Amino acid sequence: MTFRFSPRILATGAPPIPAARAWAARYDGRAGPALDLTQAVPGYPPPPELLARLAEAAGSRASAGYGRIGGDLDLVEEFATETAAFYRAPVMDDEVAITAGCNLAFAMVMTVLAGEGEAVLLPTPWYFNHHMALTMQGVRAIPVPTRAEDGFVPDPARIAALLAETRARAVVLVTPNNPTGAIYPPAVIHEVAAACRRHGAALVLDETYRDFLPAPAPAPDAATPGAPWRPDDHGWPTPPHALFEDEHWQDVLVHLYSFSKAYCIPGHRLGAVVAGTKLQRQLDKALDTLQICPARPAQAAVAWAIDALRGWRAGNRALMAARACAFREALAPLEGWRLDAIGTYFAYLRLPDDAPDAMASAERLAAEAGLMTLPGPFFGPGQDRHLRLAFANAAEEVLRQVPARLATLR
Ligand SMILES: Cc1ncc(COP(=O)(O)O)c(C=O)c1O
Repeated sequence: MTFRFSPRILATGAPPIPAARAWAARYDGRAGPALDLTQAVPGYPPPPELLARLAEAAGSRASAGYGRIGGDLDLVEEFATETAAFYRAPVMDDEVAITAGCNLAFAMVMTVLAGEGEAVLLPTPWYFNHHMALTMQGVRAIPVPTRAEDGFVPDPARIAALLAETRARAVVLVTPNNPTGAIYPPAVIHEVAAACRRHGAALVLDETYRDFLPAPAPAPDAATPGAPWRPDDHGWPTPPHALFEDEHWQDVLVHLYSFSKAYCIPGHRLGAVVAGTKLQRQLDKALDTLQICPARPAQAAVAWAIDALRGWRAGNRALMAARACAFREALAPLEGWRLDAIGTYFAYLRLPDDAPDAMASAERLAAEAGLMTLPGPFFGPGQDRHLRLAFANAAEEVLRQVPARLATLR
């Protein structure tokens, strides 16, 4: 080979999930079938009606051509209406762009917000693809450490101080969080937004897991205020923040969403950016260059699914909440391990003091006990004693096998 690689790509970390899965290739099956808790994918299939619509749309001539840069209007309109209903605040169609997944949404938004060498604040543990995307673009990711004692919720005062110090272009918050599952309190989100506003930075809020927020609230237009929520009402949980209610939210907020988890279609690559029209106009340049248009068959099917599958989505939220409970109970008797956080899709487990560090422990668990997890160091500095377990992947009977596998480490 005569050519060389770009320094930015060389500085970018390797994809963690294949690395962790590779350790399991050495597993001989002695503890039972291998259990893969590496990837955040729902452990149930999409409903047959959605699959049928995807098939139909994929076979149609209409879906075969290029579409609108920021997404086909049917989906844009449905998603704007859904977002407005979810946050109980107006969101306009021209404030929505549909993207080929939320990862691409993040990368494209960062192209718009930050130039080479500029800084972006990322609370740690961070979502590894966010860090990789920033490194690839030559943007400096400044870690903002969070602590188990604080439920892995970042400190807005620290963020404000770092904004002043680094002149960062954006703060990235992921709530519910990957990898910890932490749900940030609205007050924290609001304080970070206020700090961003004061410092002329954007708040990039990745709410990929918002449909799995626990404790559904009464439907906004329920006949009796405070009446218990029923799946056939609307199925929206309590809004996780009130940022969209601010009439100038467009000056600070860039909201990211993924259709992968809620609709169980990660392979169809659909996400969204909700932001003001000024940002959308810049984003169009990145969208046109990097995706031209999002995949059209999935857009057609999801435009139907947003309303039609509301009950199904609400059922999945309940299922995930039940899984989290079952997992918490299953782990409780396990000696030495500490469940530092558990939330919508993930458990973040602290290793026993006498266990090897997280990289070595994850490798041993995969290779010797057939349990695939992701070690903390994939999620940034200071994570050497933690493992992420994506429990959403597995049914309760599978989750009950996890403690015995973990116990083999000691
Ligand atoms: C926080 C977060 N954002 C984005 C994504 C990627 O979403 P998509 O499949 O839409 O690219 C994930 C997937 O795990 C995620 O955890």
